[in-house]
Amino acid sequence: MTFDLKDVFRQDIKNLLAYNFQPFRDGLIKLDANENPFAFPFALQEKIYQQLRADSFTRYPDDLAGELREKISRHTGVSIEGIMVGNGSDELILNLCLAVGSGAQVVIATPTFSMYRINSQIAGAVPVEVPRRQPGFTLDHKALVRAAGDKKTKLIFLCSPNNPTGNAIPREEIAAILEESRALVVVDEAYIDFGGQTCLPLLKKYPHLVILRTFSKAFGLAGLRVGYLLGAPEVVGELYRVKQPFNLNTFSQVAACVALAHQGEFAKMIEAIVRDRDKLSQELASLPGVTVFPSEANFILFRTRLPAGMVFQRLLQEGVLIRNLHGPHLEECLRVTVGREEENRFFMEKMKKILVDEGEG
Ligand SMILES: Cc1ncc(COP(=O)(O)O)c(C=O)c1O
Repeated sequence: MTFDLKDVFRQDIKNLLAYNFQPFRDGLIKLDANENPFAFPFALQEKIYQQLRADSFTRYPDDLAGELREKISRHTGVSIEGIMVGNGSDELILNLCLAVGSGAQVVIATPTFSMYRINSQIAGAVPVEVPRRQPGFTLDHKALVRAAGDKKTKLIFLCSPNNPTGNAIPREEIAAILEESRALVVVDEAYIDFGGQTCLPLLKKYPHLVILRTFSKAFGLAGLRVGYLLGAPEVVGELYRVKQPFNLNTFSQVAACVALAHQGEFAKMIEAIVRDRDKLSQELASLPGVTVFPSEANFILFRTRLPAGMVFQRLLQEGVLIRNLHGPHLEECLRVTVGREEENRFFMEKMKKILVDEGEG
């Protein structure tokens, strides 16, 4: 007998690359993953540690994350039955895809967060891309509605503000899509704390709306992986069928509760990030040959006349890690996360240097 990988592993995901892991080494200025650049407040760390008990280690976590869901319920006004928490919103994206099943069509307004496509494929669903309109990356309403009208379409992923383009979708536009869709419309609000209009007020009217949120961005808990989903109780009930048991560990549940109880701490950081985003956007736009796309999130998409791969590598050599997004609809585009003031300054100095070195200055 010979063992052949091909006989064992699914061939339909053979071309799936694992999530685009970025090179990382200590000392790099990390502006690649849209994280909160500030230190998690020490006093809140202490509060989290105080709430951990010996049995937080030995016993399984609360499978239904009751306390956290109750706090999220108070924060959003959505009933507990309409809330599901996940090991990052990535897990919730996967659950949505698993719940609609293999063969289902999943409509994705691209360019956008890559995990919608990847998780669709992992679940055996079929991603259907509906490109946003150029140059402003607004939704192609007609094309979306056409794709949504297909009986095979079960899910539509919209991201607002959109990663990586930075623009938000007006609420009325999402309502108009909901009016014409029989599929579940998922609005990913991972960056909603930095700008854009939330779709929360639409939840009461549209049982086929699902909202995704995360603690990884504004709330600075990327390392602890906490996301949540809001929807109609009957929809969320269906999603519980595919949820892994004990999917959110005790430490993360406690940390997210503490973060929610101290939102004022994060509001100050969000204010600083939004202010620095606008400053950084202006500074970048003033550089020769640089086009900046308006952002309502905590990152900025931009394009230079130079090849994106080269700018990315040169920045990396200089100690700054950003994202090279060169690809369809994002030709020669890069994305930089808004960091702390000194990090943004360092990034700008290096950008200027690279442009001068390459004859753009
Ligand atoms: C739009 C969007 N949704 C979801 C996620 C994943 O968030 P989480 O850390 O909660 O899995 C990201 C992370 O970059 C994102 O950009």
